[in-house]
Amino acid sequence: MRSCSPTVLKGGGLSGSFFVATEIEPMLTPAMIDRLNEQINLEIYSSHLYLQMSSWCAHKSLDGCAQFLSQHADEEMTHMRRLLNYLHETGALAIISGMEAPPHHFDSLQAMFEKIYAHEQFVTHKINDLVHLANTEPDYATLQFLQWYVAEQHQEEFLFKSILDKMALIGTEGQGLFFIDQEVAKLAATKGIKANSMEPAQP
Ligand code: FEO
Repeated sequence: MRSCSPTVLKGGGLSGSFFVATEIEPMLTPAMIDRLNEQINLEIYSSHLYLQMSSWCAHKSLDGCAQFLSQHADEEMTHMRRLLNYLHETGALAIISGMEAPPHHFDSLQAMFEKIYAHEQFVTHKINDLVHLANTEPDYATLQFLQWYVAEQHQEEFLFKSILDKMALIGTEGQGLFFIDQEVAKLAATKGIKANSMEPAQP
C-alpha cells in the first residue's frame, strides 16, 4: 500500500524560509508500470506475428487469410495504443523494447492457426496476471481499465477457435483450403465474429 509522505523542502523565495510540501505520488506502482509496459510490447509482438503470417498467406495465394491477418495486425496495435494512452494518463513512461522476430515458416495453414490460438491463450494468461496484480495491490482504476482486455481476449479466443473448428469441419486438403480461405475472407469483411456474449467495447 502506498502512502503519502510529507517532505520538508527549502523554499526558493526571497525570505529563503522553509515550507512543508507533499511529494506527488505516482498513480501506478512501479510493478504495475512494468507489467503494463510488458503488455504493450506483447501487443506489438502480436501485431508483428500476424503481419508476418499475413505475408506467408499472401505468398501461398491464400488472399482471404492474408487480408484477415493484416487487419488483425492493425487491431493489435489499437490494443497497444489503449495501454500506451493509459500509461500517459497516469503520468507514467511507456517503454518500447526491442523484440524477437516472429516465425516466418509454417508447416500448414492449420498449423499456423493453431499457433495463433496458442498465442492468444498466452495473451489471456498475461491479462489475467495483470488483473490479479491490480486486484491484490489494490489498484481499482487499473482493474476497471483491464476489463476491456478481459472481454477482448474472450472474443479473440472464440474467434480463432471458430476458425479451427471450421477447418476440422471442411478439411484442409485439396479444395478444402480454398473454401477455408473464403470463410476467413468473410470474417475479414465483417471484421470478425461478434455474435458473442462478451463483446468488448470499441477500441
Ligand atoms: Fe491483443 Fe490478440 O490480443
